[in-house]
Formats: sequence, structure tokens, C-alpha cells
Amino acid sequence: MSELSFHARKINDPVSHKSACAIVPVFGKKHLSAAARALDGEAGGPLAAAIENGDFKGKAGETLLLPGAGKAARVLALGCGAPDKFDRAAARDAVAGLYLGLNKLKAKDATLHAGELLPDVGEAEWFCGHLARELVSRAYRYRSTVAKPKPDLHLNKLTVDVASALPARRAQSALDQGSAVGQGINTAKELANLPGNICTPTYLAQHARKLARGHSKLSAKVLDEKKMRELGMGSLLSVSAGSDEPAKLVILEYKGGPAKQKPYVLVGKGITFDTGGISLKPGAKMDEMKYDMGGAAGVLGTIHALRELELPINVVGIVAAAENMPSGRATKPGDVVKSMSGKTIEILNTDAEGRLVLADALTYAERYKPQAVVDLATLTGACVVALGHHATGLYANNEELAEQLLGAGVETHDRAWRMPLWDDYQKQLDTPFADVSNLGGPAGGSVTAACFLARFTSDYPWAHLDIAGTAWDSAPKGATGRPVSLLTRFLMDRATAAGK
Ligand code: BES
Ligand code: MN
Ligand code: ZN
Repeated sequence: MSELSFHARKINDPVSHKSACAIVPVFGKKHLSAAARALDGEAGGPLAAAIENGDFKGKAGETLLLPGAGKAARVLALGCGAPDKFDRAAARDAVAGLYLGLNKLKAKDATLHAGELLPDVGEAEWFCGHLARELVSRAYRYRSTVAKPKPDLHLNKLTVDVASALPARRAQSALDQGSAVGQGINTAKELANLPGNICTPTYLAQHARKLARGHSKLSAKVLDEKKMRELGMGSLLSVSAGSDEPAKLVILEYKGGPAKQKPYVLVGKGITFDTGGISLKPGAKMDEMKYDMGGAAGVLGTIHALRELELPINVVGIVAAAENMPSGRATKPGDVVKSMSGKTIEILNTDAEGRLVLADALTYAERYKPQAVVDLATLTGACVVALGHHATGLYANNEELAEQLLGAGVETHDRAWRMPLWDDYQKQLDTPFADVSNLGGPAGGSVTAACFLARFTSDYPWAHLDIAGTAWDSAPKGATGRPVSLLTRFLMDRATAAGK
């Protein structure tokens, strides 16, 4: 895979700066950035002519490739929209367009003259982080099981001229952070894209071990079915009962903070394939249920980013990995199992399996005396009905934690929307045959799934992210890497708050 590296610099004269491609912002039809003016002047005005002709309008995300000027072998004009309307939304559009422009470019290196894109230091750091994250994550290619994957970017080095907007050192660290998050996103995408016959619970465990290898702050531990049985994880094990693939509880401990600091715990649903079990799903689109380990992928991707960021914070990642299959040994509707918490569960629908593996993983999390626990799960189709593909469903038993997560989502445009966790819904889970059932009926399916989890999370501040609608794109098909951006931002904020 080609690696894209980022370098922050202050460049005084764009004309005498040598690069394979100078990228120059243009704000609408009238306002050229200083670098655009200088290079266009040097070349005799091809950009001004293109604007005059109507070939380039400077809309956010529009690009136009021009011949070289000065020491730049090419010039790429980057539309950024009207100068008075340049906000984060326009910046996001510009970066998305820049990626498409770079994807067509044969240049190996380029320099973005970003001065005018960086209105103040805070926004400049946000922009640098966003730029690196987006370019790295958009440059991801799925290649594991295809002979001819889409070609990589030619570009492998992007210099960012920050002019006098902020010290190059600060811009560099924002670029490095963004790039680390991009790598975490790509880990999550890759795992969720891999087919169920490759990405099994055992594969997830091996991947976690690989992440930890050679990193002193990170260690991996894997519990097998025997160990889980000893711990009384009857709920989790009821899901893998019908599968030939053994379930795994995968634990990654990242110790970046002081030894005594309580950790944040991330718990991921890791159903490597969800057939529904005996409550078999219909055939249409069933292939997409390979991404039912999107929560696990998000945990591993976030830990990957933390490792790269070397964040001074303690975080534990727990992945509850199992395959949900029908067979002679599979769990049947009406079966009652005992969870690690001691609560009995009547399994009325074997397709509501995510909450069953999470229940035991959330109980296991108690041993860390966590500062807070966040679980992430492709938990319900009902959440997709409620929120579509833009917002992750957020549930929380703690207001501060909810606000922090919502804020991190806004900051990274990896947004979540708060949903109710009211006790009023709890009675939908009542059954005469066990302490709780795993089915809340047709009304409020995403809420009752969260209410089920709430029964296993009374010991700590907890939030649940239902990512069924946000972890996967249907056209073109592929994993999105969400919510790695949200979670890394959340943890970076927590680390900053702890350091104050
Ligand atoms: N993995 C599914 C949820 C899902 C659906 C994720 C669509 C992504 C896209 C989950 O295990 C499931 O099957 N949920 C059921 C719950 C129902 C049986 C209560 C659902 O949503 O229909
Ligand atoms: Mn299911
Ligand atoms: Zn599922």
C-alpha cells in the first residue's frame, strides 16, 4: 500500500518552490489566494482566463489542472467557494474535491498553499487534522481478495504550506494526528470489508495480537470458549452455539496514562457473520451481514489510532466475537440462558444476538472499574429506519458522557444523535420465563435493544452507539470506518482534560 506522508512548512515564495504540483485555493470567481495570483501571474494568466471563460467557477471542491508555473511542474486550482462563506462545510467539500483531483494526478508530490484556508489557529489545526484524515482514509483500497484493486494514488508526499497562520510544528502535529486517525479508520474498513469466511472470531483475535505486537503500551489477551464458560458467559456462548467457529473475547489494554488512572472501556459487537441463526434472515442482502462486526472493527481501529497517537490515557478495548449460525446445536427461540451477571435471558429471537454477546462483555468490563464504557454495535435495523445512514444512534445513562460523545461527533462530522433510554420502554422486555427477554417487539426496536443493554451496565457511566446505519455504505458497497473519528476525538479530548 502506498503511504501518504504530510509535511507542514512555511513557504515564502510559491513561485520559486519546487514541486510536482502546486495546489492553489480559489474562492469563487473573483478571489484568488495569494499563491494562486503569484503562480498564475508567472504563467501568464491561464487560471484567470479559465475563470473568465466560465471553465472554472471556484466552487467548493471544484478543481482545474493547469500547466506548470515557476518551479511547480503543474498547478491545481482548488475551488473553495465564496470567500465570505468559507466555513467547515466548505472546507470539507474542498478537501473531498481535492482528493478526487489528486486521484487523477500523476504527480508523486504536491504542495498545498493553505494560508487562506487557515483563518485562525484553532481552525488551522482542525483543517490540518481533517485534511490528513480524509486523504489517508479516502486513499484506502480493498485489495485482500481481488487481483486488480483500484490503483493507488500516485501522490505519496503532500507538503502543506501553512504561511503564517500557525507555527509549522503545530500544523505538523495536527497533520500527524489526522493521519493516525485515518490509519485507524482504514483498519476498521478493512476488517469490516473482509468476508465472513476470512474474518472469523479467530481472525479478529489474531488481528488484535498483531496490533499489540512490539508495542510496550499495548497488550492483547484472548479468552476462548472454555474460559468464557468458566466465567459463566452463557449469553455470549448461546450465540456461537450453532457455529463451527469458536467465539472469542478479545481484550486489548492500552496503557498510555498513569497506572492508577481508571480506563475508558470500548466494547465492540463482533458478529463476524449474522445469518440470524434459527430465526434465519431472508436471503436478500444477507451478504452485508459480514459487517456485523463493525463495532469490533471500530474498537480495533480506534485502538490502532491511539497506538499511533501515543495518547496519554488508559483505554481497554473488548471485542465480543462470534458467528451466528443455525445448526443442530444452535440456540432455539424460547431457550433460556444464564448470563455472566447472573440474570437469565429468554431468547425469543436468535437474530437479536448482538445484545446477547454484548451483555456478557459489558459485565466483564466491570472488572476494570472503568471511568466510562462505550459500546459500539451494528445492533438494529430499527436504528437504520429511525436515523438513516447519517447519524449513529446514541444512548447513555450519563449526561456528561453523552454530551462529550455528541460533541466529538460534531467536531469530526462523524455525528451521533441522542435517543431515549427511558424506563417506560423496559417493560417491553418482560417475560414470565426469565429475568429479561431479548426481544422488545416491533415498536422502538433500537430503543428496546439499548434498554436490554442498560440492564447490564448499571455499575458505570455508559453509552451505546448503534452504528447499524453508519458503519456501511451500500453504494458503492463498503465499510465507512465509522465511528473511529468520533471515538478518537472523544479520547483525545479526555486525555487533554486529564492533563489539565
Ligand atoms: N445485525 C442485525 C442488525 C442490522 C440490521 C445491522 C441491518 C445492520 C443492518 C441484528 O443482529 C439484528 O438482526 N437485529 C434484528 C433485531 C430484531 C430481531 C429484534 C433487527 O434489527 O431486525
Ligand atoms: Mn441479528
Ligand atoms: Zn447482528
